[in-house]
Amino acid sequence: MCGIFGYVGKGEDAGRLVLEGLKKLEYRGYDSWGIACLKGRRLEVKKEVGKIGKVAVRFSKSSLGFGQTRWATHGGVTRTNAHPHFDCSGRVAVVHNGIVENYQELKKKFKKSHKIVSQTDTEIIAHLIEEEIESGKSFTEAVRRAFLRLKGLNAVVALNAQSHELAAVKSGSPLVVGLGQSENFVASDSLGIKDRADKVVFLSDGELAILDENRVQLFDAQSGRKKDLKVTPLNWEIKEEGLGRYRHYLIKEIYEQPRVVTRIIKEKGGEAAYLADLIKKSYGTYLVGCGTASYAALAGVYFFSTAAGHHLNFSLGSEFSYAEDFINDRSLVIGISQSGETADIIESLNKAKKKGAKIASLVNVPGSTLYRLSDFPILIGAGQERAVLSTKAFTAQLSILLYTAYVLAGRGADGQKLLNKARRSLQYVLNKESQRKIKKLARVIKDREHLYVIGRGVSYPAALEAALKIKEDSYIHAEGFAAGELKHGVIALIEKGTPCLVLAPHDETFGAALASAMEIKARGGYIIGLSPQDNEIFDYFIKVPDANLASIIPNTAVAQTLAYYLTLLKGYDPDKPRNLAKSVTVK
Ligand code: F6R
Repeated sequence: MCGIFGYVGKGEDAGRLVLEGLKKLEYRGYDSWGIACLKGRRLEVKKEVGKIGKVAVRFSKSSLGFGQTRWATHGGVTRTNAHPHFDCSGRVAVVHNGIVENYQELKKKFKKSHKIVSQTDTEIIAHLIEEEIESGKSFTEAVRRAFLRLKGLNAVVALNAQSHELAAVKSGSPLVVGLGQSENFVASDSLGIKDRADKVVFLSDGELAILDENRVQLFDAQSGRKKDLKVTPLNWEIKEEGLGRYRHYLIKEIYEQPRVVTRIIKEKGGEAAYLADLIKKSYGTYLVGCGTASYAALAGVYFFSTAAGHHLNFSLGSEFSYAEDFINDRSLVIGISQSGETADIIESLNKAKKKGAKIASLVNVPGSTLYRLSDFPILIGAGQERAVLSTKAFTAQLSILLYTAYVLAGRGADGQKLLNKARRSLQYVLNKESQRKIKKLARVIKDREHLYVIGRGVSYPAALEAALKIKEDSYIHAEGFAAGELKHGVIALIEKGTPCLVLAPHDETFGAALASAMEIKARGGYIIGLSPQDNEIFDYFIKVPDANLASIIPNTAVAQTLAYYLTLLKGYDPDKPRNLAKSVTVK
């Protein structure tokens, strides 16, 4: 959830490098930021509330520095709570990603003997290290001992102004050490360091790295014993794509979706066959994801049932670990994640792995934690997603799952045809005329407090995803429902004029979806139909050419663009909604 970047080297440009590195990692958290660089024998510190993206501050010459972009957990979004945090002497500074679960207990102990200035859990770590140093321990040993006293999942980077070193240690949240020429780096992901280091060490849980300008040493945090560095060449391509002709990454990435589908049809046949084979051989397959990726996983259940007559199980990443008693060495667990860093998925998949399950994954970021822990990682190839909202990765996840379901049924060519149909439908809803209608709809409903989306069958996960896109970007309260659930309670929410998106593709759900729309209309709801043809029930109609089982792809694209226009009308930043982060590395 937070972006960490640290530099130690022979150069004198630590401040600028840390600032640039953090800008690349801003997607991980953006409510405040802070940087500390060594200037002479003191640390020069700059901290601010707000996003770091356009910040242009200058630092004095320095060869050691680090910083963090924060996504607040403990303590409000204030300058004081922004990282780094310091010990009483001001010589040890700490940045942190995670949650120190026992921080209250530790804070109580330190209250009298240490000067605590922030409300964060992080500051406690600096004082823990300080106590160890004061009792005569080396910096390495002090960080190691302090880390062992923390409960929870934590990535900690500490800077020692006296020894001119950085220490990085983690459990849960990711940290990568970059090995450069007379300079070394540590960052939350390799995106931050790939410009200056072509070799990296991915820290595993319980590993402690000590960096100075000449070398990186690795230790087992538990025992303190030295370990060999496992160096990985950073040879995968991470194409950083600019905005091009678009105003925001969100709309750019939405428009990239037809290309993503085409690429999957052309390039992912081998991987679809590979995944289908794994599913066929397994005794119980589980699709696991969080947020948008969980809706792709849920859609997968419908795809495999309808296209291949094959049952797959679905679980939210955050719930899977409570329901995996039945996992065994014949199970296949497929983690679905854009970032490959989502803590809830990593934790439950690690548990499944311990029980002997095989782990496959659909992941967009090469080298991510999920990618590395999987026995069978599959890259979905959606290209870098920079808007916080997941759009093209969702479409890629759906396309690969759909394709795989058809391959499993021995009908790969039909799967390709269907994906082509989805692509054409996508292009239709993204054309000028459709977008004009969606923009107009945004103007009609922008001041409504609540909005509902209903669908049946695979349009049920589509409804959940449509509602998520609208609420997380425009802050309008939007909920997605299985249309059949309406009369079991939800219908009580419908008032005169309540906008309700009805997903009504021409599939087996069509008649029943319209019947649900009628029930809403009879209670004053404003019916927005997404369907291949207009119908008298609809108060507003958006044509979505039929793509059968794949209609979830264009239907979601309508909601994505509606969310974008609503957000613009309300004057918010569509790429960085409040309170969110692109990579959710805390539980
Ligand atoms: C919504 C969104 C989130 C993510 C979720 C999982 O637009 O982006 O709901 O889908 O946090 O993230 P990944 O896919 O990185 O595991």
